[in-house]
Amino acid sequence: MGGGYVFGSARSGQTAMVALVLVVGSFFAGYIFGNNAPIYIPQASSSNSTSSSSPSPSGPSDFANRIELTYRRTPLVIPQRGVNVCPLEFNEYIPCHNVTYVQQLLPSLNLSRREELERHCPPLEQRLFCLVPPPKDYKVPIRWPTSRDYVWRSNVNHTHLAEVKGGQNWVHEQGELWWFPGGGTHFKHGAPEYIQRLGNMTTNETGDLRSAGVEQVLDVGCGVASFAAYLLPLGIQTMSFAPKDGHENQIQFALERGIGAMISAIATKQMPYPSSSFDMVHCSRCRVDWHENDGVLIKEVNRLLRPNGYFVYSAPPAYRKDKDFPLIWDKLVNLTTAMCWKLISRKVQTAIWVKQDDQACLMKNAELELITICDSKDVSKPSWKVPLRDCVDISENTPKASYPTSLRKIGISEDEFTLDTNFWREQVNRYWELMKVNRTEVRNVMDTNAFVGGFAAAMSSYPVWVMNVVPATLNDTLSGIYQRGLTGAYHDWCEPFSTYPRTYDLLHADKLLSHYQNHGEGCLLEDIMLEMDRIIRPQGFIIIRDEESIISKVQDLAPKFLWEVETRELQDKYKKAETVLFCRKKFWAIV
Ligand SMILES: *[C@@H]1O[C@H](CO)[C@@H](O)[C@H](O)[C@H]1NC(C)=O
Ligand SMILES: *[C@@H]1O[C@H](CO)[C@@H](O)[C@H](O)[C@H]1NC(C)=O
Ligand SMILES: *[C@@H]1O[C@H](CO)[C@@H](O)[C@H](O)[C@H]1NC(C)=O
Ligand SMILES: *[C@@H]1O[C@H](CO)[C@@H](O)[C@H](O)[C@H]1NC(C)=O
Ligand SMILES: *[C@@H]1O[C@H](CO)[C@@H](O)[C@H](O)[C@H]1NC(C)=O
Ligand SMILES: *[C@@H]1O[C@H](CO)[C@@H](O)[C@H](O)[C@H]1NC(C)=O
Ligand SMILES: *[C@@H]1O[C@H](CO)[C@@H](O)[C@H](O)[C@H]1NC(C)=O
Ligand SMILES: *[C@@H]1O[C@H](CO)[C@@H](O)[C@H](O)[C@H]1NC(C)=O
Ligand SMILES: *[C@@H]1O[C@H](CO)[C@@H](O)[C@H](O)[C@H]1NC(C)=O
Repeated sequence: MGGGYVFGSARSGQTAMVALVLVVGSFFAGYIFGNNAPIYIPQASSSNSTSSSSPSPSGPSDFANRIELTYRRTPLVIPQRGVNVCPLEFNEYIPCHNVTYVQQLLPSLNLSRREELERHCPPLEQRLFCLVPPPKDYKVPIRWPTSRDYVWRSNVNHTHLAEVKGGQNWVHEQGELWWFPGGGTHFKHGAPEYIQRLGNMTTNETGDLRSAGVEQVLDVGCGVASFAAYLLPLGIQTMSFAPKDGHENQIQFALERGIGAMISAIATKQMPYPSSSFDMVHCSRCRVDWHENDGVLIKEVNRLLRPNGYFVYSAPPAYRKDKDFPLIWDKLVNLTTAMCWKLISRKVQTAIWVKQDDQACLMKNAELELITICDSKDVSKPSWKVPLRDCVDISENTPKASYPTSLRKIGISEDEFTLDTNFWREQVNRYWELMKVNRTEVRNVMDTNAFVGGFAAAMSSYPVWVMNVVPATLNDTLSGIYQRGLTGAYHDWCEPFSTYPRTYDLLHADKLLSHYQNHGEGCLLEDIMLEMDRIIRPQGFIIIRDEESIISKVQDLAPKFLWEVETRELQDKYKKAETVLFCRKKFWAIV
């Protein structure tokens, strides 16, 4: 098995060669895609749209999608021949991070607060509604753990980072590959050495970061995420983020390597992560002006850190005495002192503070008007599009726990939690059987509606990482997810996710589509399917569980999105039969 299809398609009025080549794996046949290069079917040399030869039993008429730049219209109409394919130049389309669009918004953005780095979604009619094609010569990504060190150049064909950061040992060209030696601006001698140094600094040379209590890290301005990659051997989970900037594509490299990361920026809004969720926030030359605007950004770090969590700061103000670095340092010391953080170490190029669990100190500093204490907030509301607050939370101690206390507060009992955990353990094992792929073929996983993280917890016995997404319109279960040692982000699926195309191997959507059924025009089932198609890799899986009516609608639509689709009968939490959809994005490309 493993046939391929050629299908032609021409822009109306043009005779350019725009055939789509479709490389299809044999779905559910147990075939393993061991080879990293896709098998391209020779392209029909005719300049006309119909293809001359098709090696597949299905004729080209099954794959009649047309290449055409198409915007989202209201009402939404999906062509009978299938969803249009965007022209090749849109192969890196990220709807809410369009530099040209942000340029137009500049007059209304607060540049002194770097608002231009945040997400800005265009109005619906300016969103594309076509399938994002892979770039020329796209190959099935190299698999973890090799991908930590090597990725295909043609998959992330950007030389800027190597040119700018080559000397800092971030990434080098090596023939058809990019090679990541594990360096970074502040760890030229490699991330492992740097991580050991941080361990020494937090434990007075007696232990490592893990023994200093670090299990969950937020890496701000993460570069190509080498820091996260080398924390994995210590069993430390990292959420890494960086803005989408003009040329560097750091997050695209990170994800191509198989390291968890997303596009984000700390500027005017709260980060899409819950309070008191990280044991460490790390900034290595992260280009964030923590001392500006009364320290509103470092107050956000205070929100995100658990009591006794560390803020690691490797940047010039921590060690240089020239320019205005000493002044910046003084401001940082004033701000951190006011928040009752303690500077525990300052060595080489790094300073480390610990956020002390000291309410009396905060109360005193509030009385002295050095800080303002935040009003207590609604614990059940996700921090999604919440403006930053110039105040300091009295953080609640949310220790890691097998049954997270924050779930009880929103009405999820221990019994319900345990049922969920056991259920997903069983389901995840079934999924792997049914996907019939080698474990190494799935690395980047997203649970699009994670609830309390049962799916991710079950997945943790496989060599994958999981982005747990909690819809912003639901109760905040993400706090509980972090409390059980997992990571993720809030998101509203009425908007596209902040990631590059082709970044996930597996998307899991349990009751996601029904939740968004009546949420308005931007998040129709088709919109969410299109976004799933954008972010899933060729040959990636999309597992959908939902109401029967939705399942059958997706089943009808899937071929139009060039997904293969199969149904499987599994059981739901209450042992009732449930139809589960296993979709797989075909590997097609424009040639
Ligand atoms: C392509 O189509 C045009 C008109 O539709 C026709 O005149 C021409 O012969 C065709 N060329 C080939 C190579 O089939
Ligand atoms: C980016 O924004 C500009 C300006 O709004 C728009 O013309 C262009 O089509 C957008 N590009 C994409 C890929 O959406
Ligand atoms: C930008 O934000 C700063 C800090 O909050 C504020 O002082 C300033 O007035 C804002 N500027 C604009 C143009 O809104
Ligand atoms: C990579 O991009 C360059 C231009 O930036 C182009 O010349 C080259 O063909 C591209 N390589 C691949 C494999 O796509
Ligand atoms: C950390 O401390 C240990 C024990 O003192 C030492 O052997 C090691 O070289 C230190 N590592 C770094 C990077 O400073
Ligand atoms: C390391 O030792 C010094 C001096 O005894 C102490 O002040 C500091 O708090 C210790 N740091 C840590 C992380 O234990
Ligand atoms: C830091 O605080 C001290 C005492 O409140 C003050 O004198 C000093 O000017 C502050 N430094 C900066 C850089 O704000
Ligand atoms: C959300 O949480 C509140 C308690 O904060 C609870 O009363 C409510 O039932 C929860 N809603 C859902 C949909 O679970
Ligand atoms: C999975 O892939 C690895 C690495 O390519 C290989 O060693 C192993 O035999 C494969 N396992 C199966 C079950 O095919």
